[in-house]
Amino acid sequence: MPDPVPLAVGHAPGKFILCGEHAVVYGRPAIAAPLFELQAQATVYPDRECLVVAADIDRRVRVAAAPADDPFARIVRLVCAELERPLPSWRIEVSSEIPIASGLGSGAAIATATARGLLAAFGAALPVERLSALVYEVEKLHHGTPSGIDNTVVVYGRPVWFVRGQAPEPFRVGGSLHLLVGDTGIASPTRLAVGDVRRGWEADRGRYETLFDDMGGLVIRARACIEAGDAAGLGTLLDENQALLVELGVSSPELDRLVGAARVAGALGAKLSGGGRGGNMIALVAPGSERAVGAALLAAGAKRLTGAELAGEPSWHAAG
Ligand code: PMV
Repeated sequence: MPDPVPLAVGHAPGKFILCGEHAVVYGRPAIAAPLFELQAQATVYPDRECLVVAADIDRRVRVAAAPADDPFARIVRLVCAELERPLPSWRIEVSSEIPIASGLGSGAAIATATARGLLAAFGAALPVERLSALVYEVEKLHHGTPSGIDNTVVVYGRPVWFVRGQAPEPFRVGGSLHLLVGDTGIASPTRLAVGDVRRGWEADRGRYETLFDDMGGLVIRARACIEAGDAAGLGTLLDENQALLVELGVSSPELDRLVGAARVAGALGAKLSGGGRGGNMIALVAPGSERAVGAALLAAGAKRLTGAELAGEPSWHAAG
C-alpha cells in the first residue's frame, strides 16, 4: 500500500554554542547559532488517535495515555492547549539527524519540528517567542533548569546573543566564519554537568562567580570580533573560553584531545560546545585549513564531523 499523503511536515535545525555555556545559566551572555546541516523532522499523518512515533529510538507514544513528563507528549499537549484544540487523530512521525545528549540541541529541535508540523497541520501559526516558550517547557523535562538558550536559537533559526530572561538579540556577522563540529561519540546528559557546576558554585561562590565573569567578558569581546569579521581574534577567545571550561571541570580527556588536535592542525581556536564531559567540540577554521583540521580531528578520535557556518541575516527567520 502506498504511504498516505502527509497532512504536514515540520523541520528544525540543531544548534551549537559558540561561547558562554554554563555561565549563561548564571546570567552571563552567550552566543549560539543554528546548525542547519543537522535537522529534526516531524511528519503528520491522519490516524485513529494521537500518536508520536520515533522509530529511530523505538518510541511509540499514545499522547492521551502518556505521563506528564514524556517530552513527545508534552509538546503535542502544549501546542493543542495553546490553540485551544482537542488532541487530533494524527500520527506524528519524528526523526532526527542530531545525536542525542551531545550538546547539539536534539531535544529542542525535535520539540520544535513536532510543534511546527502540528501547527502546519492545524493551519495555524504562533509568534516566534510563543513557540520558543512552549519548547522551553519541554527543555525543562530534559535539563531541569535550562537557561533557555537551546529553544531560543533552534526556534529563531539564526545566531543569537542570549541573556537568560531577556529577548534574544540578533547581531551582525561581519564575514562568514567556518567551523567544524567534532563529536566525541560520548553521550553526556547536560543535566549532570549543569548539576555538578551548581554544586561547585554552592561550595565556592567566589571562585565560580569569577570564572563566570571571565566567560561573560570574553563573550562580549567575541561579539565584537564576529561583527568585525575578525576570525583570528575570535579564535583566540574560543581558546580562552576552553581554558575556563577546563577550570570549571566540564571538559574531558576526549574533548581535550580533539581540541588539541584541531589547534595543532591549524584551527584558529577550538573548544567544547554545550554541556561538556562528552558530546561535541567546535573548531574555528580558516578556509584553507578545513581539510587538515578535519583529518586531524578524525585521527584524534572524532566519531563524526559536521561543517557549520556562522552567517548573519538582516532579520529573524519567520518561525512557527
Ligand atoms: O544542551 P547543551 O548541552 O548544549 O547545554 C546547554 C548549555 C548550558 O549552558 C550548559 C546549559 C543551559 O541551560 O544553558
